[in-house]
Amino acid sequence: MCGIVGHIGAGDSVDKVLEGLKRLEYRGYDSAGICFKNSAGDLSLFKKTGKLANLINLLNNQDHHSSSSVGHTRWATHGAVNDMNSHPHLYKNLAIVHNGIIENAEELRKGLTARGFKFTSDTDSEVFLGLLSFELEEGRDLLAATSNAFKKLKGSSAFVIQSSDSDGIVTIKRGAPLVCGINENLGEAMVSSDPYALIGFVEKIFFPDDDVMCFLSKGSINFYDLDGSPSTRYLAKDLETNFEISTKGQFEHYMLKEIYEQPVLIRKLSDIYLEGIDLELERPKRVHLVGCGTAFYAGMVVGQMLEKLLKIPVSLEFASEFRYKDPLLLPGDLAIFISQSGETADTLAAQKLCKDKGIKTISIVNVEGSTLFREVDQNFLIHAGQEIGVASTKAFTQQVLTGRIICEAFAGTKDFKSLKQKFSLLSHRIEELLNQAELFKEMAQKIYNFQGFFFTGRGPYYPVALEGALKLKEIAYVHAEGYAAGELKHGPIALIDEKMVNIAIVGPELFDKTVSNIQEIKARKGIIIGIGPDVADLRNICDLFIPLTFEGLEELSPLYVNVANQLLSYHIAKQKGTDIDRPRNLAKSVTVE
Ligand code: M6R
Repeated sequence: MCGIVGHIGAGDSVDKVLEGLKRLEYRGYDSAGICFKNSAGDLSLFKKTGKLANLINLLNNQDHHSSSSVGHTRWATHGAVNDMNSHPHLYKNLAIVHNGIIENAEELRKGLTARGFKFTSDTDSEVFLGLLSFELEEGRDLLAATSNAFKKLKGSSAFVIQSSDSDGIVTIKRGAPLVCGINENLGEAMVSSDPYALIGFVEKIFFPDDDVMCFLSKGSINFYDLDGSPSTRYLAKDLETNFEISTKGQFEHYMLKEIYEQPVLIRKLSDIYLEGIDLELERPKRVHLVGCGTAFYAGMVVGQMLEKLLKIPVSLEFASEFRYKDPLLLPGDLAIFISQSGETADTLAAQKLCKDKGIKTISIVNVEGSTLFREVDQNFLIHAGQEIGVASTKAFTQQVLTGRIICEAFAGTKDFKSLKQKFSLLSHRIEELLNQAELFKEMAQKIYNFQGFFFTGRGPYYPVALEGALKLKEIAYVHAEGYAAGELKHGPIALIDEKMVNIAIVGPELFDKTVSNIQEIKARKGIIIGIGPDVADLRNICDLFIPLTFEGLEELSPLYVNVANQLLSYHIAKQKGTDIDRPRNLAKSVTVE
């Protein structure tokens, strides 16, 4: 979603903001802009649709020496993708950038138009600019005006406000991510929607709570509640200086690099959690597993483990459904929220609902310090490192494994020897799979032009069929559907012909039944790509085949299969020449509902 970076301090402010925006490119965006205080003390605005490089080109021939600037990458919600709707929005001596949605924008727009405010864009964001300008015209200072204008908005939003009349930058947020940071030595302060943009620039970061205004000036930040009184409602944290900016290294794409990181990360997770630390967790009566997209599918695998290994009843929900369905929450229930970013708007809203109803909440999360991390009662970090590719890969594996570790915690296990062996075996088998890149490349060359794909699987392989289809859709822009193999004949089989590819996942469980399902597709001329144990009964009915060795992996085997799906999707997308790391229309972290 939209990326925000603001800076105040030394004269290379624009360069620092552009560097910050560059780091946020992975989140997905369609236009970029920057506003800075020029040498005359006025605000200069530059914005352009398309990649950040277009904005940088615009600035190349301009004097952009400045000690205060605010930048933005936009992911359109209200209004088409064009220069006019890009951020920042400027009115007289005032500029704003926005991440979120103003739900009552239409109503406010009518009122502002009636009062004579001239809108220059179709965005909801400009409504805040209008409100703010009237508050200032009525004689309020920037903080009081921000507070008054913000109180009129409905929905989740984060804003950064810059005025040529102020020597600071003001921020305000509710339900959308925002982090500030300072470097006292250099006399600088920064703000962003993502801590990643601040690494290396600041030494200390602050996560303001909702409805807290931050006033950033050179080397300091002051916090205020909406009534203007000083606020202590923020979390302060020293920034790890050893946090490395992720690079692609020898890989062509971040996604591929992240797929290849998995064996090492699995071993790391095992070292962190399974080396005898006290993992005890009170066994709940029932578990609600909540997440979105890939995190939801990870929850599906974890849910099956909880039911199978521990006989704990599970309810699995998309966060966007859970938050509005008035869920049945009972004493003794536990809610587990799964999220890579920890900033997904629906997941956060679902967690808040549980918290408000007195249900204990825990996270399976990657980003330490994220909103989810701060809001839950207990965190289980997945230790995946930064995931840059919009299509989630390594996070899925780590989420499921962390869920598996939580099962041990519920069981009160003290000896993790057998689980450690399984983790190690999984890591090893994935390594072997990753060494077969040629197999996936050749397969992709044969099938990349097909337009329809079914991923099928039964039992523990059904969630990875869903996840496999999601991956292919996201990065290859083809229609792909995940289906429970036994369900195909209840309708979708009508779609099978010689133009449809079926990626058939076959594990040791329900082997014969799944093979029968494949026969049904073969009888209707569907192209079969089998992923399963190397046995003649299976191999001989497949047009193409990916042999896997399941022995010893047991409940972790869906993760092994999933890596095969990841590689296949990656190589199909590569053949098609899509923007693999930043697929069209997608955002890495979905901070609006
Ligand atoms: O950051 P989260 O894990 O909460 O994100 C959830 C989904 O938006 C995310 O998994 C999405 O589906 C990915 N693009 C999948 O590859």
